Parts: sequence; C-alpha cells; structure tokens
Amino acid sequence: MKTHIFTLKDLAQAATYIKNGEIVAFPTETVYGLWANALQKDAVTKIYLAKWRPSDNPLIVHICEKKQLWELANIETSKEKLVHILIDTFWPGPLTLILPKKECISSQVSGGLDTVAIRMPNNPIALKLIELSGCHIAAPSANISGKPSGTKYEHVLQDFDGKIAGIIRSSPCKIGIESTVVDISWDIPVILRLGGLSYEELSTVIPELTIHQEWETQIVRSPWMKYKHYSPEAEVILFEKDAISKIQTYKKQLETQGRKVKIISPKKIENFWKKLFALLRKADWDNYDFILIEALEEVGEARAIMNRIRKSATKVIS
Ligand code: TXA
Ligand code: MG
Repeated sequence: MKTHIFTLKDLAQAATYIKNGEIVAFPTETVYGLWANALQKDAVTKIYLAKWRPSDNPLIVHICEKKQLWELANIETSKEKLVHILIDTFWPGPLTLILPKKECISSQVSGGLDTVAIRMPNNPIALKLIELSGCHIAAPSANISGKPSGTKYEHVLQDFDGKIAGIIRSSPCKIGIESTVVDISWDIPVILRLGGLSYEELSTVIPELTIHQEWETQIVRSPWMKYKHYSPEAEVILFEKDAISKIQTYKKQLETQGRKVKIISPKKIENFWKKLFALLRKADWDNYDFILIEALEEVGEARAIMNRIRKSATKVIS
C-alpha cells in the first residue's frame, strides 16, 4: 500500500480518506494517533491489523464537541454532575473518560467490554479533522503494539509507511505522553492510566479520586494493564536507589562484554516527559543494546513518566 503524505493544507482530502474507511495518522496534543471511523467495522479492523493489536484491547473514541459524549455513553443521572464538571474543566484536553457504552459502540471498539473510552483532544486541527470527517474517530496511539508511542511524524513513518492509507505531516506532539484514563463507570472514580493530566490536577475537582495500583493489586481493571508496553528493542533497566553510583558500575560491566549502553538521566533533561518516547526510539535507531534509566520521585507529572518507564523496563535495580 502506498502511504499518502498529507500536509495541514490537505485536511479535507484526509477527511475523505477517513470517510471512505481508511486509516490516517494525525497528532493530538498527547501523541500521534491512527484515526478511523469508529462506527465502520472494516475501518476499525484495519487499525487492529496495522498495529498488531490484540482484539480485546479497546480503542478510545475521539469527539470534536462535548455534547457528542451523550451520543456514545449512557450517563446515569447521579453521574451527570461529575461528568459536567470534568468535561467543563478539562476538555478539550488529555483526559479520557470511561463510561457505560451505548448500542452504537461495537464490541470491536470496546474490546468486548460494556464501557467505552471517550476523549476530546486539545488540538484545533485535530478537532477540525474530526468535524470534516463527520464521524466519531477511533484512535489508538500510532505505534506497533508494545512499542513506545509515536510523538513525531518520523516515528509514525518508521512504524506505518506502506501499512496505512495516509499520514498527516505535522509538528511534534506538545505533551508527548498519552491521556489520563479515568473510569467513572464505578462508584468511586479511578485513574486506570496516568497520563498528560496529573492526579493532583484531577483531585482538585474529584477529591475522592484514587489511582488503580496495578503493581500492588495485580487486578486488571483495563486491558491496557495486561499487555507489554512502551518497550524499545534495547533492554531497559530502571535504577531506583543510589542510581548514580550503581548505574556507572553497571555500564562499565556491560561495555566490557561489548554491549552498547545508553544512560538516561531524567533530572538532567528539560521537559523530560515530552521526550521519553522519542529518546527510547532514538536509542533503537542508534543500535543501543541497553538503556539504563534513573528513577524519579513519583509526584505530579513524574507519576505518569515513572509508570511508562516501569512498563518499558525488563529489570528494576532497587
Ligand atoms: O492520548 C491518548 O489517549 C492517545 C491519543 C491518540 O488520543 N490514545 C491512546 O490510545 O493512547 P491507546 O489505544 O494507545 O490507549 C488507550 C488505552 C488502551 O490501552 C485501552 O486498554 C484503554 O485505554 N481503554 C480503552 N477503552 C477502555 C475501556 N472501556 N475500559 C478500560 N480501559 C480502556
Ligand atoms: Mg497505546
């Protein structure tokens, strides 16, 4: 398949591809996504095939107007107030809400669950593209399943050139990490995936909010938790304590075995969270065998970053 490269001037043409059941990659404020009409079965199938994504891992449905939420989700009267507060405060933005799904959402999109994930991205061009496409857009992150999400046009090209109908060439994603996923279909709202909107910011409007502790409970509340994620080809080792002294010794040992080793020190990199996925991808591009990363204290924005690093790591040295 020839992948058509669109520029921002070609939005109407890209929207026609989507209307015709094709996949087009486009950036949101978080990461690049693979966009397809959420209500067209064949189009959604193409997403799963292009990504090699397991069929029980559901997709987020993207909308361009807040009111469209009610077309896709059943919202109990007791939840209306919470929903309004959340979408008025954080949409458009990096917040995905999980709610009971309506009939129009196929089990293909919901991965067989009776809930649906919905978000309104904070990128005016993305919103325009949804509007021009005239449909709800199913969009997972633009990466082969298990690999770091694509945050730049070049990443999408690396993974999907020849595999999808189009890519819209645009600037790198502003946030660089995926949206925060909050399940409000249960009694107590729970963060299922930390992301671009911090727990601290969300807690200002939902004081009872909790974070699902997948490491401690081993309970899979979202299919996202059971799959390997964000892993480059290089082996990632996370250093939790006394990182600076241990990491150098480790590096020397590996290098004497002829292995190519990259150290990543998040504290020394400005706006690290925007760059994590790009750094992991670059290490593969440069043929590193190992990536040694120092841990960050898990507060504020660093919670989401540490979550991604833990998921990408094959070993943790504490
Ligand atoms: O920032 C983002 O969220 C990006 C951009 C493109 O919008 N999208 C994204 O999609 O990260 P994806 O598919 O890579 O990750 C969404 C995760 C999935 O891993 C899935 O397990 C979880 O959200 N999810 C989707 N629907 C769900 C549901 N009904 N219940 C629980 N988890 C769900
Ligand atoms: Mg993803």
